[in-house]
Amino acid sequence: MNAHAAALAGNPRRDPPTSAFAADVLDGLSRQPKQLPPKYFYDATGSELFERITALPEYYPTRTELGILRAHGADIARMLPAHAALIEFGAGATTKARLLLSQSGFDAQSGFDAYVPVDISGEFLAAQARALRADFPGLAVHPVTADFTQPFELPDAVRDKPKVGFFPGSTLGNFEPHEAGAFLRGARAILGPGALMLIGVDLEKSDRVLHAAYNDDAGVTARFNLNLLARINRELGGNFNLAGFIHRAIFNRERHRVEMHLVSREAQTVRVLGKSFSFRAGESIHTENSYKYSLERFAALARSSGWTPQVSWTDDENLFSVHALLAQA
Ligand code: AVI
Repeated sequence: MNAHAAALAGNPRRDPPTSAFAADVLDGLSRQPKQLPPKYFYDATGSELFERITALPEYYPTRTELGILRAHGADIARMLPAHAALIEFGAGATTKARLLLSQSGFDAQSGFDAYVPVDISGEFLAAQARALRADFPGLAVHPVTADFTQPFELPDAVRDKPKVGFFPGSTLGNFEPHEAGAFLRGARAILGPGALMLIGVDLEKSDRVLHAAYNDDAGVTARFNLNLLARINRELGGNFNLAGFIHRAIFNRERHRVEMHLVSREAQTVRVLGKSFSFRAGESIHTENSYKYSLERFAALARSSGWTPQVSWTDDENLFSVHALLAQA
């Protein structure tokens, strides 16, 4: 499972119809305004669509963050304690961790000598761990199957090592501000005082760039958003007519967030798990917030959540940022 899914979810794909998914859908569609939690985007189809989003020309975050990690690899490597354990919150496809590991050293002499990918999906993690051991001989890989938004134990093997947390992808942006603070405080408690944290955070920018990133020409983001309704149909016996809803993403500058919505084209009634939900023409289901930060607002959030900002790196266009934070004593 990819980072955002692990960050936002339990394992929604395996939820039976009477599960949290069912309860959250019934609750969200009963609210005014209607809403659905973004953690449910990431079933197999949604995860695949998200991978496609990351490669879209309009979706700048993934390639920009990789560019920052590459451009500042030497600076990052200099900050790292020797013989450190790299702990990744939401291991994803490990592309960014691989970059960090190969730029920072992963042997007994330098940089990292252990990698702890944390992810809710044990199967996915086991496959990633196997591939990493093959590609990085000498690196100790200790996967931890856990929902990292909740407290979890680090493996004994890394307990006495210096710790470096890693949370790329601006997954933090999909948390409400109070949840983002809670995540940072939780990570500080898990890693301990003196730990370093490398975290990717998307920046506030022009409406034009944000609008394009979340309304791509190929319509992949629209399919990603609409897949939530398809998933409700598949797993909860819903009868959403997907053609009756349109994807809408807008930047709400006052609240510093891109909002994704599914807007009903017409007045209609939908049934899910034996319950009816009426929609007015133009009524929306709010499906995701993607918060964008300024460097100052993120630093203030980090400071008030147990971390002292050390360095921030951005790209030439100030699209995205990567921060090194030090866990407060
Ligand atoms: C996973 N997360 C950081 C993405 C974002 O940009 O907020 C999810 C996404 N939603 C639409 N496009 C991408």
